[in-house]
Amino acid sequence: MEKFYVYVVSLLFFSLLLLHGGTASRAFRKNQDGSEEWGYVQVRPKAHMFWWLYRSPYRVEDPSKPWPIILWLQGGPGASGVGIGNFQEVGPLDTNLEPRNSTWLRKADLLFVDNPVGTGFSFVEDTNLFVKTDSEAATDLTVLLEEIFNRNENLQESPLYIVAESYGGKLAVTLGVSALKAIEAGKLKLKLGGVVLGDSWISPEDFVFSWGPLLKDISRLDNNGLLKSKSLAQKIKQQLDSGNYVEATSSWSELEEVIIVSSNSVDFYNFLLDSGMDPLSSTATELSVGVSMKRYARYLSTYKSATPGGSDGVDLDTLMNGTIRKKLKIIPENVTWGGQSDYVFTVLAGDFMRPRIDEVDELLAKGVNVTIYNGQLDVICATKGTEAWVEKLKWEGLQKFQSIERTPLFCGDDKHTKGFTKSYKNLHFYWILGAGHFVPVDQPCVALNMVGAITDSPASAASASVAPTRKRKM
Ligand SMILES: *[C@@H]1O[C@H](CO)[C@@H](O)[C@H](O)[C@H]1NC(C)=O
Ligand SMILES: *[C@@H]1O[C@H](CO)[C@@H](O)[C@H](O)[C@H]1NC(C)=O
Ligand SMILES: *[C@@H]1O[C@H](CO)[C@@H](O)[C@H](O)[C@H]1NC(C)=O
Ligand SMILES: *[C@@H]1O[C@H](CO)[C@@H](O)[C@H](O)[C@H]1NC(C)=O
Repeated sequence: MEKFYVYVVSLLFFSLLLLHGGTASRAFRKNQDGSEEWGYVQVRPKAHMFWWLYRSPYRVEDPSKPWPIILWLQGGPGASGVGIGNFQEVGPLDTNLEPRNSTWLRKADLLFVDNPVGTGFSFVEDTNLFVKTDSEAATDLTVLLEEIFNRNENLQESPLYIVAESYGGKLAVTLGVSALKAIEAGKLKLKLGGVVLGDSWISPEDFVFSWGPLLKDISRLDNNGLLKSKSLAQKIKQQLDSGNYVEATSSWSELEEVIIVSSNSVDFYNFLLDSGMDPLSSTATELSVGVSMKRYARYLSTYKSATPGGSDGVDLDTLMNGTIRKKLKIIPENVTWGGQSDYVFTVLAGDFMRPRIDEVDELLAKGVNVTIYNGQLDVICATKGTEAWVEKLKWEGLQKFQSIERTPLFCGDDKHTKGFTKSYKNLHFYWILGAGHFVPVDQPCVALNMVGAITDSPASAASASVAPTRKRKM
């Protein structure tokens, strides 16, 4: 009886530690050799953010260059970095749990988060606790960084690069501004290396205006489709100008429907492909916001199985809610991976269409390195739209930046041009050829070189073939 009591008390204590541990409210685990750590940070009472840190086995000690760390921010909003970014894009293992040759661990440590709360394994205990704005999401992320970095002097030596994809870009620049304030106030102990915006949704207005002309130029729309998309883009602009952001989100969704119909389902993530989706009812506008989000989350798995030679049969949901959740051990029983994801998008609908160009300007003015990279074949965050918002920057170096020539990029022994880049002061731009929205998936070689250059990784010069290939245990 007494034994049982002790058992219950320690179990209770453990779960309290897990979820309600006051200031040190972290549930936390390490793997055997310490190369992986993961945990929950209670970023606000009853709001729990999941993170997973990988230390690189390719680390190079170089007194003149610190080893970098990358925080990967996925899009959606509501798509899981711990799942998609990690297992489908840049982490050490793919969805078959086989080593990924082009993992970004070759250049840096990797920190994945399920952000905003409600995404992936992150969860809230009360549905009023989802974030309603990018700024609320950035505040939560800043708390997470304080919890992870402030107590770890080792990590503080690595400059942090916030690397984003898609909607993650809006969160990345907002976090960049918020993290800098926390650093200046002495509350956050880390060195911000830079902010990196991969195919990022920084200015929704510029993207919706880019879709029609781009798709017309590549024959995927005709003039009728172009006119329809122009008039909806105009409507969105009016809504944005008058601050009707929720209405603008509905019109965005309506515009996507028009383009899907007029283009016979062009893929929004790669204009050379057809969307793998079932035909959507163009009348279900209120539903299609959620549908668009799911399309994003599901895209990579359908893309892989539809790609010739793709052998990726494992469904990400099954993997995350099965093998991975068992490995992690700390996921509460009633939390399933992605169980709350749909709410994340819906609750952010009032901020979804709000631009974040001012935040980019703020970072540039403060001397932070800002890198933009964009896949040539992307539609949703088309290069045309990205170039349009860059032109709106107030940054004093813009004119000079625009006037300088680009340098071509190659990869390995391949003589084909893989992209272009240029830099002026602290603004850097990479144009990646032959890639859609998911650049590291479509062009792993050039993406890996790029991330080595951006993070000034001491491993940059090292040839990939001489790096160790330690097999990771699950
Ligand atoms: C990936 O593997 C292939 C051969 O299997 C090799 O040619 C290529 O260089 C590798 N890429 C990287 C980034 O290691
Ligand atoms: C899981 O269960 C706990 C305890 O009953 C509850 O406090 C929490 O809100 C639940 N979490 C979710 C995400 O439903
Ligand atoms: C997740 O896994 C649990 C336990 O294996 C199972 O009961 C549940 O149905 C799964 N949920 C989803 C959404 O796959
Ligand atoms: C920005 O990047 C350049 C080139 O990598 C580097 O030389 C410089 O030190 C960086 N600046 C800051 C403030 O990190």
